[in-house]
Amino acid sequence: MDKVKFTAMKDGDREDYEFLTRHEIEYASKTAARLLDAMVDLDESLSGYQVTRLGHSLQSATRAWRDGADTDWLVSALLHDIGDIYAPYNHDEYAAAILKPFVREQCAWVVEKHGDFQKLYYAHLVGGDPHARDAYKGHAYYEDCATFCERWDQASFDPDYPHESIDFFRPLVEEVFARKAYDPAVIRAGERVALVDPTVAEGRNA
Ligand SMILES: [Fe+2]
Ligand SMILES: [Fe+2]
Repeated sequence: MDKVKFTAMKDGDREDYEFLTRHEIEYASKTAARLLDAMVDLDESLSGYQVTRLGHSLQSATRAWRDGADTDWLVSALLHDIGDIYAPYNHDEYAAAILKPFVREQCAWVVEKHGDFQKLYYAHLVGGDPHARDAYKGHAYYEDCATFCERWDQASFDPDYPHESIDFFRPLVEEVFARKAYDPAVIRAGERVALVDPTVAEGRNA
């Protein structure tokens, strides 16, 4: 069997769906590789800044690395703008949807809301609301998103900042997307992990 027998889903039998499940597992196992390829495509997107989107993403992740951030934060920082490719008007939600089954709830929330938090830095110059983030005041992860944007996102448009390569982060992306989707031990609902860990940072910057 190399294809299902049905032409309408309701006509499929157990053999068809067991066959498809095996295929989907095989396909899903290559998610990390596809995402890393998409990151390279980001290199060609959205010109006008002094750095490419890939450069910005690597710089954000490198700043996270040098801050001693854990794996969930690093992969979230690397992929936070991946939605730019297909969803220019809700790139934050798009990226969060990709991350959500595989990283801590805290990190997925921060990625999902980072677009509104970023407005603090420029929206007043383009007729928008720089305080859009105020809508989330009191939320458990509000401060984390503010820190993410201040330390890693808004700062990472510097063509002279020496950042790590995509291959440096590849094993982390592979690790994260090989996790069991929606595993409560990964999602850790309600738990906060600091973005900055001075002890780890010290080792990494030595
Ligand atoms: Fe963004
Ligand atoms: Fe960004």
